Amino acid sequence: MARPEVLVVTRLMDSVMRELQENYTLHHLYEATDRDASLRDASAVRGIATDGHAGTDGALMNALPNLEIVACYGVGVDSIDLAHAAANNVIVTNTPDVLNDEVANLAIGLLLAISRGIVRADRYVREGRWLEGEMALTHGIRGKTVGILGLGRIGKEIALKLSVFGCEIVYHGRLEQTQQPYRYYPELRAMAGDCDHMIVICPATNTTRNIVNREVLDALGPAGTLINVARGSVVDEPALVAALSEGRLGAAALDVFADEPSVPAALLEMDNVIVQPHIASATEETRQAMGDLVTKNLALHFAGEPVVTPVTP
Ligand code: NAP
Ligand code: 8YV
Repeated sequence: MARPEVLVVTRLMDSVMRELQENYTLHHLYEATDRDASLRDASAVRGIATDGHAGTDGALMNALPNLEIVACYGVGVDSIDLAHAAANNVIVTNTPDVLNDEVANLAIGLLLAISRGIVRADRYVREGRWLEGEMALTHGIRGKTVGILGLGRIGKEIALKLSVFGCEIVYHGRLEQTQQPYRYYPELRAMAGDCDHMIVICPATNTTRNIVNREVLDALGPAGTLINVARGSVVDEPALVAALSEGRLGAAALDVFADEPSVPAALLEMDNVIVQPHIASATEETRQAMGDLVTKNLALHFAGEPVVTPVTP
């Protein structure tokens, strides 16, 4: 039987590319010099392998009349047109759970780094300023209130790990999760007003766009810290830059931005800001586990079996 044809939208890690190469006839869209011509040659494609950055829009799905499945290397599927996929009976899969640990670790790493001034302290030593005197005192996180925007799979992992640090955990989402031991805030602004630090880890959707707005940032206040490991679109980025530069917000640690890989120049000038290049899941181990889910979902689907991690719109 002919091997299924799979379109790879963006290059994935080498081990995943090898696994795909061994099992499918691949079309490498990211190498195409003439995208339209490449897509015309890909009319027999039944599967797409993509990631959270490159995604898959309706136009790409329409260009592949035999498309059955889009497998995303990432849990966030905001760059995939889920409604279009559902309307055309295209299955979408993602990589939930296997990255909870690492994304939570980066969120907590950023919280510690911003509170203890770890990045500033490194610069302090490198710039020879230690020779002139001691660095100013920083803050611990024990006893501090940390608000989690999005107490989902990753949010719960963050909460669990942070309880070991002696933080008070509170959360906001659309629904109260009564089985969780943490205080629920039905209003994001009210939660921000009661927090020392706020960690953003909800999905990017139409309802979360810019929900961390000027009012929420002002409620967090001049002593507050914002940590965003979700998506840039959840935070009103110009409002964030303004709040930081006007001293209305204390500090920010950001793994994600509105227009990646571009980062507002003003943020790069600020000593109270830590920036990361969207790396929360980017360890060899976690990326391998994510890749294994991508290849497993494709293999199951082409064997006529149900996929393990389907996304429902
Ligand atoms: P999840 O299990 O689906 O949890 C999402 C949480 O967000 C839920 O608790 C949900 O609670 C809440 N939520 C959804 N819509 C909301 C709204 N309108 N207002 C407030 N809260 C809302 O997702 P997950 O696996 O934890 O992943 C979360 C997101 O993290 C992903 O979608 C992705 O964008 C991002 N992420 C980023 C990285 C990175 O590299 N930086 C890595 C992995 C994931 P309710 O249903 O009660 O509202
Ligand atoms: C990836 C992510 O960096 O899972 C997500 O939602 O943002 C990250 O794990 C992204 O999918 C690109 O590979």
